[in-house]
Amino acid sequence: MKITSTEFVISAVKPEQYPDDALPEIALAGRSNVGKSSLINRLIQRKNLARTSGQPGKTQTLNYYRINNNMYFVDLPGYGFARVSQETRKQWGKMIEKYLTERMNLRAVLHLVDIRHAPSAEDVMMSEWLDHIGIETCVVATKADKIPKGKRPAHVKVIREKLGLAKDRPVIVFSSEEGLGKDELWAWIKPRLSTDGGTDGEPSETEEA
Ligand code: GTP
Ligand code: MG
Repeated sequence: MKITSTEFVISAVKPEQYPDDALPEIALAGRSNVGKSSLINRLIQRKNLARTSGQPGKTQTLNYYRINNNMYFVDLPGYGFARVSQETRKQWGKMIEKYLTERMNLRAVLHLVDIRHAPSAEDVMMSEWLDHIGIETCVVATKADKIPKGKRPAHVKVIREKLGLAKDRPVIVFSSEEGLGKDELWAWIKPRLSTDGGTDGEPSETEEA
């Protein structure tokens, strides 16, 4: 994917603040610190457009990044962060739920899990919930550089089993550090942008001359 423009648009806390230009949106869900913001930066080849941090819980709003003036990445607040109040968690939960269930422009979700660990109870819940909503989801196993190459398939197997993924569901092994999985992930995302909600038919890859 050739990136011609990237732009941080808004940190939204309510639907009224979401952009109204109807561009397709790809959202990123996953535990706090799993690497959501880093993955966005890697996909768009910008060092720090999406703010990353060693401190979990950094992203607490829905952060919109407009790419090439034809799509958005929506960085969702990470879940599973212990050091926030029950009340704050509830509010995030509601905001994310509302976004995922009601947002018309949402085309697909990238669900990030850390390749090093078996998915947590919250990961499993999120996965089941995304299935329940019926939104297209791609599981991304992050921080692959932290596991030797030969051991990665075994870790992916654990992720598949824990999340109960059917054979035809993708798990993309990714490293923001090294760029591994970047092309594969773009290849998954691209066709999801070109359909008008993905009702039926093949997404058109052809271009009019
Ligand atoms: P929240 O905003 O808190 O939800 O976290 P996040 O999911 O956006 O995680 P973020 O991208 O900020 O990354 C968290 C930490 O993990 C940072 O210190 C990153 O440098 C590190 N990290 C992210 N991706 C990778 C990766 O692929 N490899 C390695 N080695 N470190 C990574
Ligand atoms: Mg973040």
